[in-house]
Amino acid sequence: MTETQLVECPPLLFFDSGIGGLSVLIETVKLLPDAPIIYAADYAGLPYGIKSEAELAARIPALLGRLVERYKPALATIACNTASTIALDHVRSALDIPVVGTVPAIKPASTLTRTGVIGLLGTQATIRQPYVDRLAAEFASDKVLLRHAAPDLVYAAEAKLRGEKSDSEVIQAAINGLLKQAGGERIDTVILACTHFPLLRDELITAAPRPIQFIDGAEGIARRIAFLTKNQSWPAESREGIFVTTGGLPDIASYRPAFAKYGISRFEKL
Ligand code: DGL
Repeated sequence: MTETQLVECPPLLFFDSGIGGLSVLIETVKLLPDAPIIYAADYAGLPYGIKSEAELAARIPALLGRLVERYKPALATIACNTASTIALDHVRSALDIPVVGTVPAIKPASTLTRTGVIGLLGTQATIRQPYVDRLAAEFASDKVLLRHAAPDLVYAAEAKLRGEKSDSEVIQAAINGLLKQAGGERIDTVILACTHFPLLRDELITAAPRPIQFIDGAEGIARRIAFLTKNQSWPAESREGIFVTTGGLPDIASYRPAFAKYGISRFEKL
């Protein structure tokens, strides 16, 4: 792909600390199958969930700046709840292209719950964010929102995408951490507030002791991306997508089959 081609038909950029952004990408390619894709994973920074707000607020805009300079995308999607709830405003002010964020699906959960008790699974950093408090106050003030940090699910999702068997104890511990809190027995809706977690939806459903709906914002984000790019023409033939990492290239080789399904077969280092 040459520089000229990139400018004529700019790609969509997806950004996450690891493979979590794939859950947003999957919904987007359903709506925009011909859009050229750049998938960026900050493996040198994974996991984001244990990092401080200050570190992420500095790191993420700087990386997005380098990615935009190199790939000249039409639009950037921060396909990571931790990054979005901390650094979305910083990224928007640093870039001159539209930036779509991924934030916990509290608004849809609030309309779906019948018991009025909603669970939220995220990283340690996400569940303590004022951004989440604001969403809860705006859209779920008449509901109970119980939060639980499940950082091990990030690694379980990474392992699954490498083709390894996911650790059922880790999945069960995440479910128990939420449902065994006071009031947790009334949870009927769980927000997957980390983009890695929808990749484990089947495992979470199996581990839940009763029917629970697990929801995330990926479909809504895909619709937003399609809306913001509605005037853009895509190439007649789909292009090879690019996976770019801040980490080592050998470390991501085992993700090739998972990404090949979405036309991403070129791997680069940032
Ligand atoms: N996928 C990221 C999110 O949506 C977090 C994973 C991590 O801790 O790096 O929050």
